[in-house]
Amino acid sequence: MANVVVVGAQWGDEGKGKIVDWLSERADVIARFQGGHNAGHTLVVDGTVYKLHALPSGVVRGGKLSVIGNGMVLDPWHLLKEIETIRGQGVEITPETLMIAENTPLILPFHGELDRAREAQASVSKIGTTGRGIGPAYEDKVGRRVIRVADLGDDKTLEVRVDRALVHHNALRAGLGLEPVDRAALLAELREIAPRILEFAAPVWKVLHEKRRAGRRILFEGAQGALLDIDFGTYPYVTSSNVIAGQAATGTGLGPDAIDFVLGIVKAYTTRVGEGPFPTELLDEDGRRLGERGHEFGTTTGRQRRCGWFDAVLVRQTCATSGVKGIALTKLDVLDGFDELKICVGYELDGKRIDYLPTAADHQARCTPVYETMPGWQESTEGARSWADLPANAIKYVRRVEELIECPVALLSTSPEREDTILVTDPFAD
Ligand code: GDP
Ligand code: IMO
Ligand code: MG
Repeated sequence: MANVVVVGAQWGDEGKGKIVDWLSERADVIARFQGGHNAGHTLVVDGTVYKLHALPSGVVRGGKLSVIGNGMVLDPWHLLKEIETIRGQGVEITPETLMIAENTPLILPFHGELDRAREAQASVSKIGTTGRGIGPAYEDKVGRRVIRVADLGDDKTLEVRVDRALVHHNALRAGLGLEPVDRAALLAELREIAPRILEFAAPVWKVLHEKRRAGRRILFEGAQGALLDIDFGTYPYVTSSNVIAGQAATGTGLGPDAIDFVLGIVKAYTTRVGEGPFPTELLDEDGRRLGERGHEFGTTTGRQRRCGWFDAVLVRQTCATSGVKGIALTKLDVLDGFDELKICVGYELDGKRIDYLPTAADHQARCTPVYETMPGWQESTEGARSWADLPANAIKYVRRVEELIECPVALLSTSPEREDTILVTDPFAD
């Protein structure tokens, strides 16, 4: 049985939630493998809008197993609130339909405080994080001082872990002018929440191996986008986890041989939230129009997303680093009505043409995009459900994108609604 990894191939918000929801009809298990509630995945099913942050997008479909993998960082208070919100929309969430890996690191309140305090420091240029403590929690994981889900099960272990974390954090907080953490209050809050989290805890690696052996299909749901990857993104303007497809294995406890197809989610133009380089950014009327037609406001923070033309150089690069076999091209409908569309096909750096984004920050800053201009279309593609419904120039645009990124379109999305999706190649086909 084929297993599929879904990853964002730009700077996030490509429409992963919609595509994961659509694909999850064909899957048995939907597993998140990195990131936390910095993600904001929007699903629209028959007019009802679901906004998911920490929960996998598969929860909305009944009868599937949703998994929070060890590669994520989990704010337990946020999760319980999100479960209540989604239950309030009529979705059933039980320990049979949601499992949390026991070795998942927890985001605690001091992580969020540290994240926000650092962003407020005038002496360092800010990243523009979501302020949700993602970076500090991953730092603690690698620093071997994070509290993990399993630690909630034993009071003695929990105290030892909290003390280890606080030695580090109280020293940092003193330097930032923050009060030391109230140890007793934190322990009391953790003890209070422990049973409500532990009811979902499981040895996820084992469950996934058993599912796989039984021929079940697993859909791995990525968050963020490959250009926010801690290694391959526009560092330091990135998130603090590996976002690329290889992380699906380490972030759940399956081997890399479990991955049969990597689907890259690609928006028909480019957006980014927060600071950092963005070669094709448009600060003019075209950019404003993309933002308005595409409703480009963050699902998590409500911030306005920066908008620009499609950058084929970047997507070719991210398809390579994630081993993308096919893409889901989303939001094609947002391009309806433009007279002309531009696609970035290369960069010019110090008078030389290059075909990738260099790593050095000063080189990135000096890269200017080389554009190809394509004719636009005036007809509406919104809600199109077959190729036959697409205007000729829209098909030309899609074909040119495929050529430039060296990867075929497997799915095409033409509105936020679940069913407004064109299937070209089934990623689950063996
Ligand atoms: P994610 O983070 O990758 O899951 O994406 P977000 O949910 O943050 O942002 C994508 C937005 O675009 C959401 O509001 C979706 O409902 C919407 N969307 C997804 N696909 C399409 C599409 O094909 N056309 C339009 N117009 N909107 C879409
Ligand atoms: P989804 O899954 C877009 C961005 C933030 C900031 C940087 C670091 O919805 O695509 P962090 O809080 O992670 O330390 O912030 O990463 N960022 C996202 N941008 N979509 C996301 O998730 C993002 N998650 C983080 O804006 O620039
Ligand atoms: Mg999003």
